[in-house]
Amino acid sequence: MDKEEAMKILSAIRYPGYSKSLTDFKVVKSVEVENNVVEVLLNLGTADANKRKIIFDEIRARFGEKGVDVKISTVQEKGSKVEQKHYVQSAKKRIAILSAKGGVGKSTFSVSLTIALKLRGHRVGIFDADMHGPDIPRMLGVNERAGADKEKNKIIPNEKNGIFSMSLGYVVDPETPVIWKGAMITKAIVELLQFTDWPVMDYFVVDLPPGTGDAALTIKQNMDVDGAVIITTPNRLAVADALRTVSFFKQVGINVTGFVENMGYFICDKCGGKSYPFGKMDPKAIEDQLGVPSLGVVPFEPKVEEAADDGELLSITDTEFFSVMDSIAEKIEKELS
Ligand SMILES: Nc1ncnc2c1ncn2[C@@H]1O[C@H](COP(=O)(O)OP(=O)(O)OP(=O)(O)O)[C@@H](O)[C@H]1O
Ligand SMILES: [Mg+2]
Repeated sequence: MDKEEAMKILSAIRYPGYSKSLTDFKVVKSVEVENNVVEVLLNLGTADANKRKIIFDEIRARFGEKGVDVKISTVQEKGSKVEQKHYVQSAKKRIAILSAKGGVGKSTFSVSLTIALKLRGHRVGIFDADMHGPDIPRMLGVNERAGADKEKNKIIPNEKNGIFSMSLGYVVDPETPVIWKGAMITKAIVELLQFTDWPVMDYFVVDLPPGTGDAALTIKQNMDVDGAVIITTPNRLAVADALRTVSFFKQVGINVTGFVENMGYFICDKCGGKSYPFGKMDPKAIEDQLGVPSLGVVPFEPKVEEAADDGELLSITDTEFFSVMDSIAEKIEKELS
Protein backbone atom coordinates (compact mmCIF):
# COMPACT_ATOMS: atom_id res chain seq x y z
CA MET A 1 0.00 0.00 0.00
CA ASP A 2 1.23 3.50 -0.75
CA LYS A 3 0.30 6.89 0.63
CA GLU A 4 -2.07 7.68 -2.21
CA GLU A 5 -4.00 4.44 -1.74
CA ALA A 6 -4.19 5.07 2.01
CA MET A 7 -5.55 8.59 1.40
CA LYS A 8 -8.14 7.14 -0.94
CA ILE A 9 -9.37 4.77 1.75
CA LEU A 10 -9.54 7.61 4.29
CA SER A 11 -11.39 9.88 1.90
CA ALA A 12 -14.14 7.25 1.59
CA ILE A 13 -14.79 7.26 5.35
CA ARG A 14 -17.56 9.55 6.49
CA TYR A 15 -17.33 11.77 9.52
CA PRO A 16 -19.94 10.33 11.95
CA GLY A 17 -23.28 12.09 11.55
CA TYR A 18 -22.32 13.83 8.28
CA SER A 19 -22.31 12.85 4.64
CA LYS A 20 -18.88 14.42 4.17
CA SER A 21 -15.71 12.44 4.63
CA LEU A 22 -12.77 12.68 7.00
CA THR A 23 -10.70 14.31 4.30
CA ASP A 24 -13.48 16.79 3.43
CA PHE A 25 -13.40 17.94 7.03
CA LYS A 26 -9.59 18.12 6.96
CA VAL A 27 -9.45 15.68 9.84
CA VAL A 28 -6.49 13.83 8.32
CA LYS A 29 -3.32 15.78 9.16
CA SER A 30 -0.79 13.32 7.76
CA VAL A 31 -0.38 9.80 6.42
CA GLU A 32 2.83 7.77 6.36
CA VAL A 33 3.26 4.25 5.04
CA GLU A 34 6.19 2.12 6.18
CA ASN A 35 6.58 -1.67 5.87
CA ASN A 36 2.90 -2.12 5.12
CA VAL A 37 1.90 -0.24 8.30
CA VAL A 38 -0.07 2.95 7.77
CA GLU A 39 0.41 5.76 10.29
CA VAL A 40 -2.41 8.26 10.36
CA LEU A 41 -2.38 11.51 12.30
CA LEU A 42 -5.82 13.02 12.87
CA ASN A 43 -7.11 16.31 14.14
CA LEU A 44 -10.60 15.26 15.17
CA GLY A 45 -11.90 18.61 16.33
CA THR A 46 -14.04 16.85 18.93
CA ALA A 47 -13.52 15.48 22.42
CA ASP A 48 -16.58 13.22 21.98
CA ALA A 49 -15.39 9.73 22.92
CA ASN A 50 -18.15 8.04 20.88
CA LYS A 51 -17.29 9.84 17.66
CA ARG A 52 -13.64 9.14 18.25
CA LYS A 53 -14.36 5.43 18.65
CA ILE A 54 -16.55 5.25 15.55
CA ILE A 55 -13.85 6.93 13.47
CA PHE A 56 -11.03 4.76 14.83
CA ASP A 57 -13.01 1.53 14.41
CA GLU A 58 -13.95 2.44 10.87
CA ILE A 59 -10.36 3.28 9.92
CA ARG A 60 -9.08 0.02 11.39
CA ALA A 61 -11.81 -1.98 9.65
CA ARG A 62 -11.18 -0.42 6.22
CA PHE A 63 -7.42 -0.99 6.37
CA GLY A 64 -7.98 -4.39 7.99
CA GLU A 65 -9.97 -5.47 4.92
CA LYS A 66 -6.87 -4.77 2.85
CA GLY A 67 -4.69 -6.71 5.25
CA VAL A 68 -2.86 -3.58 6.35
CA ASP A 69 -2.17 -2.54 9.94
CA VAL A 70 -2.79 1.02 10.97
CA LYS A 71 -1.44 3.19 13.76
CA ILE A 72 -3.68 6.12 14.58
CA SER A 73 -2.64 9.13 16.61
CA THR A 74 -4.32 12.45 17.23
CA VAL A 75 -3.19 15.98 17.85
CA GLN A 76 -4.31 17.59 21.08
CA GLU A 77 -7.70 19.20 20.64
CA LYS A 78 -7.94 22.84 21.54
CA GLY A 79 -10.61 23.86 23.96
CA SER A 80 -11.41 20.39 25.30
CA LYS A 81 -12.07 20.79 29.02
CA VAL A 82 -10.20 17.82 30.44
CA GLU A 83 -6.74 17.31 29.16
CA GLN A 84 -7.54 13.80 27.99
CA LYS A 85 -4.75 12.36 25.87
CA HIS A 86 -4.90 9.30 23.70
CA TYR A 87 -1.53 7.63 23.62
CA VAL A 88 -0.85 4.05 22.48
CA GLN A 89 -3.37 4.17 19.66
CA SER A 90 -1.30 1.53 17.89
CA ALA A 91 -3.07 -0.94 20.19
CA LYS A 92 -6.59 -1.99 19.32
CA LYS A 93 -7.53 -2.56 22.97
CA ARG A 94 -5.99 -1.21 26.13
CA ILE A 95 -6.61 -3.04 29.42
CA ALA A 96 -5.75 -1.80 32.93
CA ILE A 97 -5.12 -4.22 35.81
CA LEU A 98 -5.76 -2.86 39.30
CA SER A 99 -6.23 -3.99 42.88
CA ALA A 100 -6.96 -2.24 46.14
CA LYS A 101 -4.29 -4.11 48.08
CA GLY A 102 -0.69 -4.87 47.26
CA GLY A 103 0.63 -8.36 46.81
CA VAL A 104 -2.57 -9.96 45.50
CA GLY A 105 -0.91 -10.94 42.22
CA LYS A 106 -1.55 -8.04 39.83
CA SER A 107 1.83 -8.18 38.15
CA THR A 108 1.77 -11.97 37.90
CA PHE A 109 -1.73 -11.75 36.43
CA SER A 110 -0.77 -8.95 34.00
CA VAL A 111 2.17 -10.90 32.59
CA SER A 112 0.23 -14.18 32.50
CA LEU A 113 -2.73 -12.54 30.75
CA THR A 114 -0.36 -11.03 28.19
CA ILE A 115 1.15 -14.49 27.61
CA ALA A 116 -2.31 -16.09 27.38
CA LEU A 117 -3.43 -13.50 24.81
CA LYS A 118 -0.21 -14.04 22.87
CA LEU A 119 -0.77 -17.81 22.87
CA ARG A 120 -4.26 -17.14 21.51
CA GLY A 121 -2.63 -15.57 18.48
CA HIS A 122 -2.73 -11.89 19.35
CA ARG A 123 -0.04 -9.24 19.10
CA VAL A 124 0.58 -8.03 22.61
CA GLY A 125 2.40 -5.51 24.73
CA ILE A 126 2.62 -4.80 28.44
CA PHE A 127 3.31 -1.57 30.29
CA ASP A 128 4.63 -1.50 33.83
CA ALA A 129 3.03 1.51 35.51
CA ASP A 130 4.38 0.60 38.94
CA MET A 131 7.11 3.16 39.46
CA HIS A 132 7.94 2.11 43.02
CA GLY A 133 8.52 -1.53 42.33
CA PRO A 134 8.74 -2.28 38.62
CA ASP A 135 8.35 -6.08 38.59
CA ILE A 136 7.51 -6.65 34.96
CA PRO A 137 11.10 -6.79 33.61
CA ARG A 138 11.98 -9.58 36.05
CA MET A 139 8.77 -11.51 35.35
CA LEU A 140 9.37 -11.29 31.60
CA GLY A 141 13.02 -12.20 32.02
CA VAL A 142 14.11 -9.01 30.26
CA ASN A 143 17.29 -7.43 31.59
CA GLU A 144 18.21 -5.09 28.77
CA ARG A 145 17.75 -1.39 28.97
CA ALA A 146 15.41 0.21 26.48
CA GLY A 147 17.02 1.52 23.31
CA ALA A 148 16.46 4.93 21.78
CA ASP A 149 15.73 6.07 18.27
CA LYS A 150 17.36 9.49 18.29
CA GLU A 151 16.03 10.44 14.88
CA LYS A 152 12.42 9.79 15.80
CA ASN A 153 12.98 10.91 19.39
CA LYS A 154 11.44 7.65 20.59
CA ILE A 155 12.21 4.97 23.13
CA ILE A 156 12.33 1.44 21.72
CA PRO A 157 10.31 -1.06 23.74
CA ASN A 158 11.96 -4.35 24.64
CA GLU A 159 10.70 -7.49 22.97
CA LYS A 160 11.02 -11.08 24.10
CA ASN A 161 9.05 -14.09 22.87
CA GLY A 162 6.93 -11.72 20.81
CA ILE A 163 5.87 -9.72 23.86
CA PHE A 164 6.63 -6.00 23.72
CA SER A 165 7.19 -4.26 27.01
CA MET A 166 8.11 -0.98 28.60
CA SER A 167 8.96 -0.31 32.21
CA LEU A 168 10.65 2.37 34.22
CA GLY A 169 12.98 -0.48 35.15
CA TYR A 170 14.37 -0.26 31.60
CA VAL A 171 15.24 3.40 31.78
CA VAL A 172 16.38 4.22 35.31
CA ASP A 173 19.48 2.81 36.91
CA PRO A 174 18.31 0.05 39.28
CA GLU A 175 21.22 0.87 41.62
CA THR A 176 20.01 4.41 42.17
CA PRO A 177 17.15 4.55 44.63
CA VAL A 178 14.61 7.13 43.55
CA ILE A 179 11.95 8.47 45.82
CA TRP A 180 8.99 8.91 43.55
CA LYS A 181 6.51 11.61 44.38
CA GLY A 182 3.14 12.22 42.74
CA ALA A 183 4.23 14.68 40.06
CA MET A 184 7.31 12.64 39.14
CA ILE A 185 5.27 9.45 38.79
CA THR A 186 2.82 11.23 36.55
CA LYS A 187 5.57 12.66 34.38
CA ALA A 188 7.39 9.34 34.08
CA ILE A 189 4.24 7.46 33.10
CA VAL A 190 3.20 10.06 30.54
CA GLU A 191 6.65 10.14 28.96
CA LEU A 192 6.90 6.37 28.72
CA LEU A 193 3.46 6.16 27.11
CA GLN A 194 4.08 9.08 24.79
CA PHE A 195 7.66 8.53 23.69
CA THR A 196 7.72 4.76 23.34
CA ASP A 197 7.63 3.63 19.74
CA TRP A 198 4.80 1.15 20.33
CA PRO A 199 4.25 -1.40 17.59
CA VAL A 200 0.82 -2.37 16.27
CA MET A 201 -0.81 -4.52 18.97
CA ASP A 202 -4.14 -6.23 19.48
CA TYR A 203 -3.96 -5.94 23.26
CA PHE A 204 -1.99 -3.60 25.49
CA VAL A 205 -1.97 -4.60 29.16
CA VAL A 206 -1.14 -2.08 31.90
CA ASP A 207 0.03 -3.31 35.28
CA LEU A 208 -0.80 -0.65 37.85
CA PRO A 209 0.56 -0.22 41.35
CA PRO A 210 -1.90 -1.09 44.16
CA GLY A 211 -4.54 1.45 45.10
CA THR A 212 -6.31 4.23 43.35
CA GLY A 213 -3.59 6.85 43.32
CA ASP A 214 -1.73 9.01 40.83
CA ALA A 215 -0.67 6.19 38.56
CA ALA A 216 -4.19 4.92 37.88
CA LEU A 217 -5.50 8.43 37.25
CA THR A 218 -2.59 9.26 34.99
CA ILE A 219 -3.22 6.16 32.92
CA LYS A 220 -6.86 7.11 32.56
CA GLN A 221 -5.99 10.67 31.50
CA ASN A 222 -3.40 9.63 28.95
CA MET A 223 -4.90 6.71 27.10
CA ASP A 224 -8.33 5.40 26.19
CA VAL A 225 -8.87 2.49 28.58
CA ASP A 226 -11.06 -0.10 26.85
CA GLY A 227 -11.31 -2.48 29.77
CA ALA A 228 -10.23 -2.90 33.35
CA VAL A 229 -9.72 -5.99 35.47
CA ILE A 230 -9.75 -5.94 39.24
CA ILE A 231 -7.71 -8.52 41.09
CA THR A 232 -8.76 -9.70 44.51
CA THR A 233 -8.12 -12.65 46.78
CA PRO A 234 -11.03 -14.71 48.11
CA ASN A 235 -11.71 -13.23 51.51
CA ARG A 236 -14.25 -10.79 52.77
CA LEU A 237 -11.87 -7.98 53.67
CA ALA A 238 -10.10 -8.12 50.32
CA VAL A 239 -13.43 -8.03 48.51
CA ALA A 240 -14.58 -5.07 50.60
CA ASP A 241 -11.37 -3.31 49.52
CA ALA A 242 -11.93 -4.29 45.91
CA LEU A 243 -15.24 -2.46 46.04
CA ARG A 244 -13.32 0.80 46.43
CA THR A 245 -11.40 0.00 43.28
CA VAL A 246 -14.62 -0.61 41.36
CA SER A 247 -16.04 2.72 42.59
CA PHE A 248 -12.84 4.49 41.61
CA PHE A 249 -12.91 3.10 38.07
CA LYS A 250 -16.57 3.99 37.69
CA GLN A 251 -16.01 7.46 39.06
CA VAL A 252 -13.27 8.27 36.58
CA GLY A 253 -15.29 6.76 33.73
CA ILE A 254 -13.45 3.50 33.09
CA ASN A 255 -15.47 0.43 32.13
CA VAL A 256 -14.77 -2.41 34.54
CA THR A 257 -14.67 -5.60 32.50
CA GLY A 258 -14.73 -7.82 35.56
CA PHE A 259 -12.82 -9.15 38.54
CA VAL A 260 -10.54 -12.10 39.03
CA GLU A 261 -10.16 -14.05 42.23
CA ASN A 262 -6.48 -14.91 42.45
CA MET A 263 -5.21 -17.80 44.56
CA GLY A 264 -8.81 -18.95 44.82
CA TYR A 265 -7.94 -22.61 45.42
CA PHE A 266 -5.06 -25.05 45.53
CA ILE A 267 -4.85 -28.51 44.00
CA CYS A 268 -2.66 -30.98 45.85
CA ASP A 269 -0.28 -32.53 43.32
CA LYS A 270 -0.20 -35.78 45.30
CA CYS A 271 -3.85 -36.48 46.08
CA GLY A 272 -5.52 -34.10 43.60
CA GLY A 273 -7.67 -32.71 46.41
CA LYS A 274 -8.84 -29.10 46.32
CA SER A 275 -8.21 -26.80 49.28
CA TYR A 276 -8.72 -23.13 50.00
CA PRO A 277 -5.66 -21.75 51.82
CA PHE A 278 -6.56 -18.10 51.14
CA GLY A 279 -10.25 -18.43 51.97
CA LYS A 280 -13.24 -19.46 49.97
CA MET A 281 -15.97 -17.30 48.57
CA ASP A 282 -18.71 -17.89 46.09
CA PRO A 283 -17.83 -15.88 42.93
CA LYS A 284 -21.55 -15.16 42.60
CA ALA A 285 -21.57 -13.51 46.04
CA ILE A 286 -18.57 -11.40 45.03
CA GLU A 287 -20.29 -10.49 41.76
CA ASP A 288 -23.29 -9.25 43.72
CA GLN A 289 -21.13 -7.28 46.10
CA LEU A 290 -18.91 -5.67 43.45
CA GLY A 291 -21.59 -5.32 40.79
CA VAL A 292 -19.20 -6.54 38.06
CA PRO A 293 -18.86 -10.00 36.50
CA SER A 294 -16.39 -12.67 37.55
CA LEU A 295 -13.86 -13.45 34.83
CA GLY A 296 -12.48 -16.49 36.60
CA VAL A 297 -10.91 -18.05 39.66
CA VAL A 298 -7.15 -18.52 39.36
CA PRO A 299 -5.59 -21.34 41.41
CA PHE A 300 -2.62 -20.95 43.71
CA GLU A 301 0.11 -22.65 41.69
CA PRO A 302 3.41 -23.20 43.54
CA LYS A 303 5.36 -23.23 40.24
CA VAL A 304 4.22 -19.68 39.51
CA GLU A 305 6.37 -17.91 42.04
CA GLU A 306 9.65 -19.41 40.88
CA ALA A 307 8.76 -19.16 37.21
CA ALA A 308 7.77 -15.51 37.64
CA ASP A 309 10.97 -14.78 39.56
CA ASP A 310 13.08 -16.34 36.84
CA GLY A 311 11.16 -14.74 33.97
CA GLU A 312 10.11 -18.20 32.85
CA LEU A 313 6.32 -18.13 33.03
CA LEU A 314 6.23 -19.36 29.43
CA SER A 315 7.71 -22.66 30.59
CA ILE A 316 4.69 -23.53 32.76
CA THR A 317 1.88 -23.00 30.27
CA ASP A 318 0.83 -26.65 30.69
CA THR A 319 -0.48 -25.93 34.22
CA GLU A 320 -4.08 -25.52 35.35
CA PHE A 321 -3.06 -21.95 36.22
CA PHE A 322 -2.53 -21.24 32.52
CA SER A 323 -5.62 -23.07 31.34
CA VAL A 324 -7.61 -20.76 33.63
CA MET A 325 -5.66 -17.78 32.25
CA ASP A 326 -6.61 -18.89 28.74
CA SER A 327 -10.30 -18.95 29.61
CA ILE A 328 -10.00 -15.50 31.21
CA ALA A 329 -8.23 -14.20 28.08
CA GLU A 330 -11.07 -15.63 25.98
CA LYS A 331 -13.68 -13.88 28.15
CA ILE A 332 -11.80 -10.61 27.90
CA GLU A 333 -11.64 -10.96 24.09
CA LYS A 334 -15.42 -11.38 24.01
CA GLU A 335 -16.15 -8.57 26.46
CA LEU A 336 -14.01 -6.11 24.55
CA SER A 337 -15.03 -7.07 21.03
N1 LIG B 1 -1.85 -17.72 41.42
C1 LIG B 1 -0.68 -17.67 42.06
N2 LIG B 1 -0.10 -18.82 42.51
C2 LIG B 1 1.06 -18.77 43.20
N3 LIG B 1 1.73 -17.66 43.49
C3 LIG B 1 1.21 -16.49 43.07
C4 LIG B 1 -0.01 -16.43 42.33
N4 LIG B 1 -0.28 -15.14 42.04
C5 LIG B 1 0.72 -14.42 42.58
N5 LIG B 1 1.62 -15.21 43.20
C6 LIG B 1 2.83 -14.80 43.94
O1 LIG B 1 2.44 -13.83 44.89
C7 LIG B 1 3.43 -12.82 45.03
C8 LIG B 1 2.80 -11.44 44.76
O2 LIG B 1 2.44 -11.38 43.39
P1 LIG B 1 2.58 -10.04 42.52
O3 LIG B 1 3.92 -9.44 42.69
O4 LIG B 1 2.12 -10.39 41.17
O5 LIG B 1 1.50 -9.16 43.27
P2 LIG B 1 1.16 -7.61 43.04
O6 LIG B 1 -0.27 -7.44 43.35
O7 LIG B 1 1.63 -7.16 41.71
O8 LIG B 1 2.06 -6.95 44.15
P3 LIG B 1 2.40 -5.38 44.32
O9 LIG B 1 1.18 -4.80 44.93
O10 LIG B 1 3.59 -5.39 45.22
O11 LIG B 1 2.69 -4.84 42.95
C9 LIG B 1 4.53 -13.19 44.07
O12 LIG B 1 5.53 -13.85 44.78
C10 LIG B 1 3.86 -14.12 43.07
O13 LIG B 1 4.78 -15.06 42.53
MG1 LIG C 1 2.92 -5.62 41.15
